[in-house]
Amino acid sequence: MSDPERELLYDDAHISFLEDIWGEGFLSPGGAEEALRVVEGLDLRGKRVLDIGCGSGAIAVLLARDMGAAEVVGIDVEPDVCAAAERRAAKAGLSDRITVREVAPGPLAFDDDSFDVVYSKDSIIHIPDKEALCRDVYRVLKPGGWFAASDWLMSHDGPPSPEMEAYIKAEDLDFAMASPTRYERALKDAGFDQIGLRNRNPWYREVAQRELATLTGPDRDRLDRDHGADFIADQETTWRTMIRVLVSGEHCPQHLRGQKPL
Ligand SMILES: C[S@@+](CC[C@H](N)C(=O)[O-])C[C@H]1O[C@@H](n2cnc3c(N)ncnc32)[C@H](O)[C@@H]1O
Repeated sequence: MSDPERELLYDDAHISFLEDIWGEGFLSPGGAEEALRVVEGLDLRGKRVLDIGCGSGAIAVLLARDMGAAEVVGIDVEPDVCAAAERRAAKAGLSDRITVREVAPGPLAFDDDSFDVVYSKDSIIHIPDKEALCRDVYRVLKPGGWFAASDWLMSHDGPPSPEMEAYIKAEDLDFAMASPTRYERALKDAGFDQIGLRNRNPWYREVAQRELATLTGPDRDRLDRDHGADFIADQETTWRTMIRVLVSGEHCPQHLRGQKPL
């Protein structure tokens, strides 16, 4: 399924660094608490859940083991993260309820009306066409089903500020950031009801400062040893440029919700 021409963004080295900062099995901030906040108030017991951009799999395990989902299908475009997610599901004894599929970027290869919940955590930033994504998520959801996601957004749809441009360049992860207004319209135009967005900037602005403190504090020697001093120096630059746009509010992670009407 991998396209040999496509550069790997989340290879084993990157996975191991991100898990060092964000916790085993997590390739985005906030650990289990933040991952579960995305589905707060939704009953997943016995449900079939799609996790778009499942990463190295800790969230799929949480959805199945802690939230009681009957089946979680995790999809991702990177072979290393899919392998890590499969290992994690097996280690948790959940291979019968968690399926991991490596997919090509593009339309979701699932039947109409086939999931109760479509989940995603900080992954759809990599999908530029938010309108097509929302239509596709709507299509695969059963009537009454929920789209519950977290993503990294930009506060506006104009050209990024020089600070934002510097941050996106430092990340070098093919970010395609959209505004809350654009997401809200895309969800509405796709047909979703009960649309809700929650700005997580105030939360992540604080957390990111603590992550930078980890990068620059007493752990630095170990991080340099484990991941390479040049790699960690680059990450410190990324975090510093990111904090600037978190403080300005231009980088505004959000939780997104919408329900497919019955
Ligand atoms: C920041 S990580 C988050 C992973 C996981 N959701 C978590 O929170 O730990 C983003 C993930 O999205 C995946 N990704 C990128 N483009 C994708 C696409 N078009 N479809 C599905 N996953 C994609 C990446 O390979 C990566 O694993």
